Amino acid sequence: MKIAVTSASGHLGASIVKHLRTLIGNENVIAIARTVEKAKHLGVEVRKGDYNNRADFDLALQGVDAVLLVSGMDEPQKRIEQHRNVIEAAKSAGVQKIVYTSIVGAEENNAFSPIVQTNRQTERDVQESGLDYVIGRNGIYIEPDLEYLETYIKDGEIRNCAGEGKCTYTSRQELGYAYAKMLIEDQHNGSIYNLVGQGITQSELAAAINAVFDTNLVYNSVSIEEYAAERKAALGDFFGTIIAGIYEGIRNGANDVPSDYQKASGRNHVSAVEMMKNFKNQQ
Ligand SMILES: NC(=O)c1ccc[n+]([C@@H]2O[C@H](COP(=O)([O-])OP(=O)(O)OC[C@H]3O[C@@H](n4cnc5c(N)ncnc54)[C@H](OP(=O)(O)O)[C@@H]3O)[C@@H](O)[C@H]2O)c1
Repeated sequence: MKIAVTSASGHLGASIVKHLRTLIGNENVIAIARTVEKAKHLGVEVRKGDYNNRADFDLALQGVDAVLLVSGMDEPQKRIEQHRNVIEAAKSAGVQKIVYTSIVGAEENNAFSPIVQTNRQTERDVQESGLDYVIGRNGIYIEPDLEYLETYIKDGEIRNCAGEGKCTYTSRQELGYAYAKMLIEDQHNGSIYNLVGQGITQSELAAAINAVFDTNLVYNSVSIEEYAAERKAALGDFFGTIIAGIYEGIRNGANDVPSDYQKASGRNHVSAVEMMKNFKNQQ
C-alpha cells in the first residue's frame, strides 16, 4: 500500500510522514512537497506538488493508494480551488482513499469563520469525491504558543481576548500519529473526527507553561476589539484578523469540543503538560 502526504515539507506533513514510516515502512510512503528540497530529509521518495498546479498532482499521485491532503495556507477562496486540484487529480489517478486535515471552529460569527467555512467546503468536496474518505478536524496547535515563549516572558503575561473560554489544544506530534492510523486503518472510512486534547483555559495554559518552563506568567484577558487592534498593528490586517478571530472563537466556546482522538488513533491524547514536555525535549 502506497500512501502519499501533501505539504510534507511543513510541520504537520512531516509528522505524518514520520509516523507512517514507523507503521508501514519507508518504501510505502511518498512525500509530496511544493519545495522538493525541503522534504528530502524525510527519508522517503519525494514528488513535486504545488496546490496551484493540478498537473503536478496528476503525476505525483500515480500509483498511490491513499493520499493525505494537508489544508493549504492561502486566502479562503483560493484554498478551495487548490484543494480541488488534489481531489480531482486523486480521482483520475485511481487513488482509493483521501484523508483531509480540516479544523475545529465556528462556521459563523467571528473573524476566523471564513477560514473554517473554506475547510467545511473542502470537507464536502472530499465527501462527494466518491473516494473512501476520513476527515480530521484539528484543534489549535500548542506549539506556536511555546515558540512565542520568549515574548510571553518579556511581557510577563499571556494576553488575548479568550477570557474564560476553554481551548482543546493539540500538537503536530499527536496529530501525526492519529492521521497515520486514519490512513492505514479501514475502520475510520466515512468518519469525521475532532482531533483535540483536553480543554483548558488561558489561565490553565499559563499555569502549565509555568510548571514546565519554570516561568511566572499570568493571563490577562482584554476585549475582542482591543486585541484585534493590537494584532492587526503587529501582524497586518490579514493575519491579525485571523489570530483575533481564533481567540474570539475560544472565548465563545467554539474550541471546547468533545474529542474523538481515542477513536481515531487507538490511544489517549496526551495532556497539555506532556505536550509541553515533549516540545521542550525536542529543542
Ligand atoms: N490547527 C492549527 O492551530 C493551525 C495553525 C496553523 C496552520 N494550520 C493549518 O495546518 C496546515 C499545516 O500546518 P503546518 O504546521 O504543517 O504548517 P507549516 O509548517 O507552516 O507548513 C506549511 C506547508 O504548506 C506548504 N504549502 C504552502 N503553499 C503551498 C502550495 N501552494 N502548494 C503546496 N504546499 C504548499 C508549505 O510548503 P513549502 O515548504 O513549499 O513552503 C509547507 O509545507 C496549514 O497549512 C494550515 O492550513 C493549523
